[in-house]
Amino acid sequence: MTIPDIIIAIDGYSSTGKSSFAKLVASGFGFLYLDSGALYRGVTLFAQRMGLIGEDNVVSDALETALEGLDLHFSAEGKTCIGEDCVESEIRSMKVSSQVSPIAAVPYVRAFVDRKLHELASSGRVVMDGRDIGTTVFPNAQIKVFMTASLEVRARRRYDEMVAKGETPDLEQVAANLQERDYIDSHRSTSPLKQAADAFVLDNSQMSMGEELAWLRGVVQGKFGIYD
Ligand code: CDP
Repeated sequence: MTIPDIIIAIDGYSSTGKSSFAKLVASGFGFLYLDSGALYRGVTLFAQRMGLIGEDNVVSDALETALEGLDLHFSAEGKTCIGEDCVESEIRSMKVSSQVSPIAAVPYVRAFVDRKLHELASSGRVVMDGRDIGTTVFPNAQIKVFMTASLEVRARRRYDEMVAKGETPDLEQVAANLQERDYIDSHRSTSPLKQAADAFVLDNSQMSMGEELAWLRGVVQGKFGIYD
């Protein structure tokens, strides 16, 4: 099946497996994968390192100017880096997870990440995951997927992922962080997480990744009338 040169936007709740799915789509379709959440996590780590996040997660205005000097990018292997420093595992820590949603609610932070995504996606054939890709960043994306799964399944997946990395998480705390981020992400005033009217919903609580990819192929076939 020949996939046309399109943008695929995958949005949804925390830990629904968006990034694993998007990576699989990228390798299956020969697309570039862009992880917008990694950019928000990178900005959060940067702000933490600069000491710009205060009490109650209030962000110092100095972050806006500091972002002008931030070299946040993906390495050739797709790892998130700040300058020479590859911070892929640090940005996935609970410390970053616990502050990323308030940082991602700041309008100039969103503008910074949106600009980066547009630069990186300029050549097309891209699959991106996030919270507002299909609604705000690329409202003209030809395929939009909105992912969801039960809280139990999502918390368990994130917990297993952390255990596999040698961490010792607490399942309840992991579930609470997911719920808290979903709440902040859905209620912020700048591009909140919501399902685009033209998105296809994928509830993967009971699906394997192979089934998810087959489902997406079906969506693309249906949309573009491809039957080879
Ligand atoms: O991996 P997980 O789904 O838990 O989160 P992520 O995709 O790494 O994103 C981390 C956080 O960044 C989210 O909880 C949002 O607060 C924020 N985010 C956002 O606001 N908009 C996006 N397009 C992507 C992420």
